[in-house]
Amino acid sequence: MASSTFLFSLCLLFMEVLALAKAQQPAEQPAMLYKDCVGKGNYTTNSTYHANLNKLLTSIYTNTEINNGFYNFSYGEDADTVYSIALCRPDIPPDDCRSCIRNASDSLVRNCPNFVEAIGGLDNCMVRYANRSIFDPMEQGPYFWVYDVRSNVSDVVGFNQSRMTLLGRLSDQQVCIG
Ligand SMILES: *[C@@H]1O[C@H](CO)[C@@H](O)[C@H](O)[C@H]1NC(C)=O
Ligand SMILES: *[C@@H]1O[C@H](CO)[C@@H](O)[C@H](O)[C@H]1NC(C)=O
Ligand SMILES: *[C@@H]1O[C@H](CO)[C@@H](O)[C@H](O)[C@H]1NC(C)=O
Ligand SMILES: *[C@@H]1O[C@H](CO)[C@@H](O)[C@H](O)[C@H]1NC(C)=O
Ligand SMILES: *[C@@H]1O[C@H](CO)[C@@H](O)[C@H](O)[C@H]1NC(C)=O
Ligand SMILES: *[C@@H]1O[C@H](CO)[C@@H](O)[C@H](O)[C@H]1NC(C)=O
Ligand SMILES: *[C@@H]1O[C@H](CO)[C@@H](O)[C@H](O)[C@H]1NC(C)=O
Repeated sequence: MASSTFLFSLCLLFMEVLALAKAQQPAEQPAMLYKDCVGKGNYTTNSTYHANLNKLLTSIYTNTEINNGFYNFSYGEDADTVYSIALCRPDIPPDDCRSCIRNASDSLVRNCPNFVEAIGGLDNCMVRYANRSIFDPMEQGPYFWVYDVRSNVSDVVGFNQSRMTLLGRLSDQQVCIG
């Protein structure tokens, strides 16, 4: 009993050291793959909206209760309410998902300084926030084209056929989230 308590404390300590080490890492993050600082207005630095935004984004990437890679949360009151959606590629494990959302959030806020609304992503995840509800109804934009410059297709016709078959199968399956 005593030894398991000790182990648990040790584990907590280790996690704290790890968290500290992470917090002290330079703020250098991979460049966003795509982003849009939506021109719907600006918030003031250190305003309630700014604080709510930081709080909301932090609460998403520290949330270990939800593990399905899809997050929609809001935080704040009245005009200072922030709405956010974050999601990961389905093949990304929960820890990597949270790490990606953290990086994407930090980069987005830094790349879109003072914008009330922004959307952007890395390879593994996407983050979006706004001062209006973005949960319902579904919005079809903004959208992005992302090219994979690391690999070229040699058999264009064959690749295209496989892709059309795959996409057809996916749309038949009526993929649902939630
Ligand atoms: C969002 O913020 C902008 C800029 O402050 C403001 O003009 C707009 O009315 C706000 N939208 C909502 C829904 O509060
Ligand atoms: C918000 O601020 C950015 C940069 O500070 C500026 O380019 C943009 O025009 C501003 N948008 C509005 C609606 O004031
Ligand atoms: C915002 O708050 C931080 C921390 O309290 C402070 O260092 C910074 O100078 C403030 N910025 C503005 C523009 O008020
Ligand atoms: C997330 O979105 C669903 C579907 O629109 C909505 O019912 C739910 O209230 C949202 N969650 C939060 C925390 O706003
Ligand atoms: C997040 O950023 C850190 C520090 O730059 C980096 O080590 C890590 O690989 C990044 N994680 C993801 C999922 O991008
Ligand atoms: C792919 O093809 C483009 C255009 O021909 C070329 O510029 C690029 O270097 C190629 N990439 C790789 C990874 O071979
Ligand atoms: C890929 O296939 C679709 C449907 O068969 C066709 O419309 C399109 O032109 C093809 N694209 C290329 C690059 O072959």
